[in-house]
Amino acid sequence: MARIKYSEILKTLAALTEGESDEVALMATMVCELHHADDRFDWTGFYRVTGPEMLKIGPYQGGHGCLTIPFSRGVCGAAARTGEVQLVADVDAFPGHIACASSTRSEIVLPVRRGDGTLIGVLDIDSDQPAAFDAEDARALSGLLAQVFGKL
Ligand code: SME
Repeated sequence: MARIKYSEILKTLAALTEGESDEVALMATMVCELHHADDRFDWTGFYRVTGPEMLKIGPYQGGHGCLTIPFSRGVCGAAARTGEVQLVADVDAFPGHIACASSTRSEIVLPVRRGDGTLIGVLDIDSDQPAAFDAEDARALSGLLAQVFGKL
């Protein structure tokens, strides 16, 4: 069973993204590195802020994701709206959860910000296992996002 080693991914991403400032290139690279590093990650992707209170699908790995999510809907919308990490142990217990894959049992969604604090999107990781994510994942993923997107 593969478990992500956050300290290694941090170094890999630093090397791979050095000098890169294109948001989509950074998102695509990060999502690829994350998705293949951990068996818990069944859908790994970004939604980007593309309009007022609106998220659009960005780079992802896994089955197809919804194209558009308003800030008012789902776990991704809640992360974008509140600016807080959403750690959902049981998606069936989350009011308004958007089920793109019926196999999804739990998820974590984190806000993605530029260095000046502007919200540019969210990172959504979905798992087919219940309660797959914990506070350590939240802390480590927040750190990775800050490293990769904080330089923008
Ligand atoms: N986890 C999301 C939706 C699933 S995706 O479209 C892959 C939500 O409820 O926000």
